[in-house]
Amino acid sequence: MSNPLNTPLEILGGISAEVFLRDYWQKKPLLIRQAIANFESPLEGNDLAGLSLEEMVESRIVLEHGETPWQLKHGPFDDDTYSSLPERDWTLLVQAVDQFSPEVAEVLEHFQFLPNWRIDDVMISFAVPGGSVGPHYDNYDVFLLQAEGQRTWKVGQMCNSESPLLAHPDLRILDGFEQTDEWVLEPGDMLYLPPRLAHWGIAQTECMTWSIGFRAPSTAEVVTHYADFVARFLPDEERYTDANMSPVSNPNYIRPEDIQRLRALISEQLDDDRMLLTWFGQHMTEPRYPDLLVGSDLSLEQLKETLDNGAVFTRNPTARLAWSHIQLDTEQAAVFFVSGNSRIISEHLVVLLDLLCSADALYSGNLQPWLNDAEASTLLCELIKQGSLECIDE
Ligand code: SIN
Ligand code: CO
Repeated sequence: MSNPLNTPLEILGGISAEVFLRDYWQKKPLLIRQAIANFESPLEGNDLAGLSLEEMVESRIVLEHGETPWQLKHGPFDDDTYSSLPERDWTLLVQAVDQFSPEVAEVLEHFQFLPNWRIDDVMISFAVPGGSVGPHYDNYDVFLLQAEGQRTWKVGQMCNSESPLLAHPDLRILDGFEQTDEWVLEPGDMLYLPPRLAHWGIAQTECMTWSIGFRAPSTAEVVTHYADFVARFLPDEERYTDANMSPVSNPNYIRPEDIQRLRALISEQLDDDRMLLTWFGQHMTEPRYPDLLVGSDLSLEQLKETLDNGAVFTRNPTARLAWSHIQLDTEQAAVFFVSGNSRIISEHLVVLLDLLCSADALYSGNLQPWLNDAEASTLLCELIKQGSLECIDE
């Protein structure tokens, strides 16, 4: 269950979520010594290198002094890649490791003071001494958890798309870093960085850093995707109309009242709470690797039997779930977002929706009350069918 907003949180160095969100989130960096005391990484450099050999996994290596300066190589890699790397100055970065390692996904439990649908993934980097991806900025918030070894983190100026970059075909490395602070992070230490703050992490020893990154659609993405979504529901005959317009005195002139009609048309279509919620919920729950959602057909009878036999279901780490309330014509209902889709659910099932969203373990004990409810049990079977819930144990 979530903490009250004003409880001091260890993961935030003893400040509350309320203070963190007010003073730091999206505003300024925060260094948190021993955010996770005695942290021991469940993963080693070799495990990460192993993942980078997989076709499904997005991985990169940045070599500061490669065939070209700051050479970028894309995975999947093979054993030869690793045997040919120098002793210093390279970094392996693997995206969305939380999707492949439940132990890594567990770290997200510490961030329950933020909406789950804002979390993007846990990217993990492994670097040898001197390894760095260069000074840069990102357009999203990030918590950088030091998992192994030591890394120096320097922070600098706030940047934007006008900030000068080195000429590089793939990497956005800043041409100019105005350092304001510098810290050496040890295992368990964590650094929060707001979007667009210049930063530069340099490995002191062999080290591993976990980046808990957040999703924030760009305004351009919101505007274009939402407009496309709304347009799907608009028939061709819905058009700009100007019944009762006043006679024009100059036929070449666009008058303020013409624009006013346009504004009314746009706001009528775009400013719709139900459409906004539906699009946003679907967009923010789009899974990164939909191919990893592999379902199984299970009838209600089979589900009951499996649960009776001690089966435990959990949320597939690829599935992204969220819910909200929605106002229908005559009543309030819930809307459940499941990996880019949405469905209306009866209000009496909101407790189940919360259970499903946070589901670490669904078993006969906590599912029993729902198995005799037709809507709830259909939902459970469908979530299993499309792979959002998977059986981990019997
Ligand atoms: C890294 O872990 O080396 C880079 C992470 C970042 O700066 O975003
Ligand atoms: Co960064």
